[in-house]
Amino acid sequence: MCGIIGYLGDREATPVLMDGLKRLEYRGYDSAGVAVLQQGAEMTSVTKSEAKVDLLIAKLQDNMPSGRLGIGHTRWATHGKPTIVNAHPHTDCYGRISVVHNGIIENFAELKQELEAAGHEFVSDTDTEVVPHLIEQYYKGDFLSAVRQALQRIRGAYALAMFSLEDPELLVGARLNAPLVVGIGEGEYFVASDITAIIPYTKKVLILGEGEMAAVTPLGSTVTTLDGLPVEAKVIHVDWDVSQAEKGGFPHFMLKEIQETPEAVSNALRGRLDEDGHVSFMEFNASDQHLRRFEEVRLLGMGTSLHAAMVGENVIEDWAGIPARAQDASEFRYRRPTLGERTLTVVITQSGETADTLVGLRQARDRGSLTVAVTNVVGSTAARDSDGAIYLHSGPEIGVASTKTFIAHLVSQYLLALRLATAHGRVSLERREEIARSLKTLPDEIRRVLANHKEIARLAHHYSRFRNFMYVGRGLNHPVALEGALKLKEISYLHAEGSSGGELKHGPIALLDRDFPVVAICTDCATKEKMISNVHEVVARDAPVLALVSEGDHNLDDLATDVIEVPAADEAASAILSSVVLQLFAYHVAVELGCDVDQPRNLAKSVTVE
Ligand code: AGP
Repeated sequence: MCGIIGYLGDREATPVLMDGLKRLEYRGYDSAGVAVLQQGAEMTSVTKSEAKVDLLIAKLQDNMPSGRLGIGHTRWATHGKPTIVNAHPHTDCYGRISVVHNGIIENFAELKQELEAAGHEFVSDTDTEVVPHLIEQYYKGDFLSAVRQALQRIRGAYALAMFSLEDPELLVGARLNAPLVVGIGEGEYFVASDITAIIPYTKKVLILGEGEMAAVTPLGSTVTTLDGLPVEAKVIHVDWDVSQAEKGGFPHFMLKEIQETPEAVSNALRGRLDEDGHVSFMEFNASDQHLRRFEEVRLLGMGTSLHAAMVGENVIEDWAGIPARAQDASEFRYRRPTLGERTLTVVITQSGETADTLVGLRQARDRGSLTVAVTNVVGSTAARDSDGAIYLHSGPEIGVASTKTFIAHLVSQYLLALRLATAHGRVSLERREEIARSLKTLPDEIRRVLANHKEIARLAHHYSRFRNFMYVGRGLNHPVALEGALKLKEISYLHAEGSSGGELKHGPIALLDRDFPVVAICTDCATKEKMISNVHEVVARDAPVLALVSEGDHNLDDLATDVIEVPAADEAASAILSSVVLQLFAYHVAVELGCDVDQPRNLAKSVTVE
């Protein structure tokens, strides 16, 4: 969703805001803007662009406002088209109060009507603009008090950063159902949607909780509830470093992040897996006895994380023998959930901030289910709201299309399944050792896939002339196929569908012809023969086939149009290796088509609204 940043300190605010917005751009890039309180001039300078942050930066370089307090915004449009007037920051009638917002004000229409009746003039189509006008309405000389009163009236989701001309040394942040952090530097402070925006400046971060506000002055920051009650805020030290959030010579973040996969797998495994397959999670330290209470596992997620949940569902049932069910969190939240105290709910979310997933988490918790968040972001809402957390430790992921974190999610699902299987006594020592060996060799096997980069790029070049793709797999490779198709459509805008091999002939096969290739995952697994039958079926319909096979397997050499060899491995490891191949394939197709790989149209990295 939108990215917001605020600065108060001794430096010039504008360059800090420009830099922060560049780092936040992956959250949204429809339009951008900054407001800076100009020192001495007693006025706020607002600069906006109707396109990406680079255009804003060009404008600011021509006319750089000077001041030590400012806010900035990069937008993913919800209410109103991406135009200059709809770009944030928004101000009150007299340009004294400036506000940037991430989220949706659900009751904006009634508030706007009320404010217009009171004489306020609106210029934009956004929901956000009611915020500065509402604060203006309540302002009687105390900015903080006016903000509090305004926020009491607002329903929906918000992370806000705001300041007023009347209080030149006060930066205010507030959150409800959208993330906001406060960075604490040496004599300078930041508020931001996430940590990546501020890591060049500070590693000391305070994460605001739901319904909390931070009042930041040159003397420090004070956190309260929206009612003004003091909150003891915990400062955390972030271990991400700035180079992780930069391209480091790669043409795209996505390619850099795919290349970081071996390290992401090592990080997900570190300290958690013994040689004998014994698993321990520091932040989810349930005893065997406790884990044996669970009769069912629910896994909730969206998009790529839902595909990771489907892999988790499969291995938890297979290895631990516990009924497991992966669910689209946005659908789960509107059903009558049947889970309870005997259900373990696993929420899978890279960002830890996906609105639908968070609601699902709260519903599960309210029904007495033990909840564990699997997330990449320490201190994220999902981690804070769950009973336990399993962190991916993948480092920041900036590319909108998830890559290394999908793989780290799969590794985490394997560890969780092994942990449950051990607690329930459903796995032998030999099998545990075998799984542990396979997982530990994964980083090297992934390096071998990455070394085949040029061949995958060559095939992507050839296949980029097609407009439709069908991805097919069975077992664990079914969600892998769905994820391969999602990756391709996200970044290349080509039509791609995923199907299980069995489902194919119940409908999807009707689409196939010589212009509709099939990407078939035929690596070694229990259903490989069935997949080969599927390939025969689609070849009989003239569809070109790009087959993924285990290294040394020549069964499809004369049948498939093209073959990519994947290092031979057991089914779980193989699902990961095939996923890396499909990520690289999607990347190269998108590059071939000249698409904006890191910032695909209409998407945002973290979907913090429903
Ligand atoms: C992945 O490529 C997508 N950007 C998207 O599907 C994403 O996985 C989804 O929005 C869920 O995000 P989360 O993992 O941060 O919850």
